[in-house]
Amino acid sequence: MTKHQTLAHITDVLLDPTTSLPLLRDTIETYRDLLLTASGIDLGEATSVDHLDTGKGVAIGVTWAALCVDDLIRTQRFVAGLYQAVHEVAARRPGPVHVLYAGTGPFATLALPLMTRFTPAELQLTCIEINALSKQAAERVVKYLEFDAFVVDFVEADAATYVIDTTARPVDIVLSETMQYCLIDEMQVPITLNLIGQLPPETILIPEQIRLSLVVLDTKGDKTVQDLGPIFTVDRQSLLAHQAGGRDVDFPTVRLTVPPHKALLEPSLASGPLAIRTGITVYGNHVLYDYDSGLTIPKVIGEYPDASDPLEAIDFTYRLLPSPLLWMDFILPEPVAAE
Ligand SMILES: C[S@@+](CC[C@H](N)C(=O)[O-])C[C@H]1O[C@@H](n2cnc3c(N)ncnc32)[C@H](O)[C@@H]1O
Repeated sequence: MTKHQTLAHITDVLLDPTTSLPLLRDTIETYRDLLLTASGIDLGEATSVDHLDTGKGVAIGVTWAALCVDDLIRTQRFVAGLYQAVHEVAARRPGPVHVLYAGTGPFATLALPLMTRFTPAELQLTCIEINALSKQAAERVVKYLEFDAFVVDFVEADAATYVIDTTARPVDIVLSETMQYCLIDEMQVPITLNLIGQLPPETILIPEQIRLSLVVLDTKGDKTVQDLGPIFTVDRQSLLAHQAGGRDVDFPTVRLTVPPHKALLEPSLASGPLAIRTGITVYGNHVLYDYDSGLTIPKVIGEYPDASDPLEAIDFTYRLLPSPLLWMDFILPEPVAAE
């Protein structure tokens, strides 16, 4: 098979909703090998391993960004979601669909497969990457695959402050996967806050929505048994609402009551720890649920409270500075006044 036939086959598998997990695993392995050959990067090189501190969050090193491809279901859902979004935009107006890809990593992993399904007249990309080594590697990948005609520009910049030239070419889709579970440290929120604020309401954001919620896990700590409520949602609406209040300010604090254990829906099942769940709607029906991806593993924050270790509520505040973090204040019950 030629390199194009190999990538076209990889794309077929990623876009087929009936693909089995073993086939997905083998296909992603082939995709990773192709990307490593095309980019020429050495995953073990010291300079590739280092993270970059942007001053307002972390941008992960070349090696770690490359290895994101191995997060199988994440990669599959993002490629399928992006494909659907490009299709929808193409169906509603003529001319190329313009995707702004913020944080391409060394491979532009999430967008390359689409270049076997669309022509440059149908799909155009602007690629932004803060890490110079990753940006150079992504350029090599595009050249190796002879996909240069799809890329308007490779920009080495911080997407959290990048100013879009909307007069040159309107942006139809903003794509960014610059996050970890619970939206800690990495720059998903500042990046999307900056980019979406500059674009018209019809611009599609991918992922479309990220939801953090408070949950109770089972005793083994590997299954969610009850959702205690939403903590923080990142989507077009919440980003625009926050923009109105100022760029770097904290998001509004949300207080969630932690009910006594016996008041839970299924107290016998729900005796495990409290955790933060991350749910991701990539686009449309392309969703990542608990444990589908490294991004959606519930993060344990403590044992369920009891009489010896009581807790009334938790105040959650998503903070952008000094780096993105979900801040928690644990509210203890008032001590019962002595008679
Ligand atoms: C989690 S990796 C994802 C790589 C690839 N897009 C994928 O999904 O497999 C995130 C990438 O975004 C880049 N990045 C992080 N913060 C950034 C920022 N503020 N501006 C531009 N790129 C950024 C990192 O350097 C890294 O290469």
